[in-house]
Amino acid sequence: MAPIFRTSRPGSAADPSRPHLILVGLPGSGKTTIGQAVAERLGRTFLDLDQEIERREGRSISQIFGEKGEPYFRDKERELTSELTLVGNMVVAPGGGWVGNPENISMVHPPSRIIYLRVTPEAALKRLGPLRSMRPLLMRPDPLGELKRLLDARKAAYESADQVVDTELFALQRVIEMVAELAPGVG
Ligand code: S3P
Repeated sequence: MAPIFRTSRPGSAADPSRPHLILVGLPGSGKTTIGQAVAERLGRTFLDLDQEIERREGRSISQIFGEKGEPYFRDKERELTSELTLVGNMVVAPGGGWVGNPENISMVHPPSRIIYLRVTPEAALKRLGPLRSMRPLLMRPDPLGELKRLLDARKAAYESADQVVDTELFALQRVIEMVAELAPGVG
């Protein structure tokens, strides 16, 4: 049976035969903002994995990290990813650490197309602004150092995406257009 997700288009039938577009990148790379806009543009369903985990768990990501620990969150991330194989044609924004588990990628790729939204840690921190408080990994004393450390650890996985889009080189609207053009089944 197809899983039930809270998505941008309730009730839309996601076609399992059509690949997802998955946006990866650091916190602050714009996965949610860009993903939502791209889905809107293409008439596809948008799914934010963190929001879906929060909905199912009935608590925020910070609470999940604090009360259950990061490994529990990573298990939920993996479970949700396995459900993605039962549906298709969505624009998906997983959390920045999703690429850290190679199993997540191998479950959905292929056929999904993975786009890396590249951003420097400095720009990511600026973009996040007060939203940093919703990222438990960035609520440590040196958030810029944390982002740099996360990027170092994940760089190879991010760069192995099907396509890389440099989000700092273009205006947001242009990035949205570029990402939409890279969606499976477009162009
Ligand atoms: C995380 C990124 C967050 C969220 C969690 C862990 C990470 O998502 O999944 O706080 O490990 O980079 P965003 O990338 O949407 O901030």
